[in-house]
Amino acid sequence: MPNVAETAAYYADFGLAPETGGVFSTVDGGKQLKLAEAPTRRLLEIRMGVDDPDDLDRIAASLARLGVTAKRDGTVLVTEEPVAGFRAVIEIAERLAQPEVPATPYNGPGRIERDTARAPVLSRGQPVRPRKLGHVVIGSTDRAATQRFFTEGLGFKTSDEVLGVAAFMRCSTDHHNVLVQQAPVNFLHHTSWQLDDVDEVGRGAMAMLEKHPERHAWGLGRHYIGSNFFWYLKDPAGNFSEYYSDLDCIIDDQLWQPGVFEGARSLYDWGPPLPPSFLLPEDVAGLMTGSHQSR
Ligand SMILES: [Fe+2]
Repeated sequence: MPNVAETAAYYADFGLAPETGGVFSTVDGGKQLKLAEAPTRRLLEIRMGVDDPDDLDRIAASLARLGVTAKRDGTVLVTEEPVAGFRAVIEIAERLAQPEVPATPYNGPGRIERDTARAPVLSRGQPVRPRKLGHVVIGSTDRAATQRFFTEGLGFKTSDEVLGVAAFMRCSTDHHNVLVQQAPVNFLHHTSWQLDDVDEVGRGAMAMLEKHPERHAWGLGRHYIGSNFFWYLKDPAGNFSEYYSDLDCIIDDQLWQPGVFEGARSLYDWGPPLPPSFLLPEDVAGLMTGSHQSR
């Protein structure tokens, strides 16, 4: 983005911990975001972990079959996605093992989990701190090709699809780590950050909006695809950032039935009405007009 300093202040407010060089870390995931200067906002690079050198060999061979070149340098494989044009770095890394956070006690009919006590959220004074980066959503002018890059090239699995529009893909037990959506221009739609529970989603968003109501984008709601609670906010560069909790997890690939969805269900199960500029933010429409004019 052009406005790195302003955007960095936003992500510090968001609860990511600033490191040096525009890098931010999460509680469980470590360094997971880097802001860098660019003439317009866009995704420059995405980094993924694999277990061993065999994985790198397999990915390099799969990419070659797609006609995509990749450069191997020791434990790292670097390539470029052919449509949206971001760098993809695949490196041998430890799997992320998250410590278990105890379930929040919620009372229900005939089910008193919180005996003679007020809700825990009322005594949570600390600002929210995302546990990890959950997923990245990429707008591509050729969704099918970008999707193939992730599935046939990098080995992602498809969890669910929106008919002709988007694919939710995973490289972990999370329902999705990357989502590619069809778009008139290539752009970064949002990044999404895991919180402990729905109370943290509400608390985090409220804190972000207290002095900056213009940051609000869409929420609170629950998605249908992935089932997660969501609240989307907008950074000063125009990228959405999502707080989420309670995302579907796919432990046994054999037991998951990928679905193909259409209409409202592809967007959410419940929540406020979809803002008109959510799927295609206004500045992206502007970029598109600009790219047409310059031809
Ligand atoms: Fe999301």
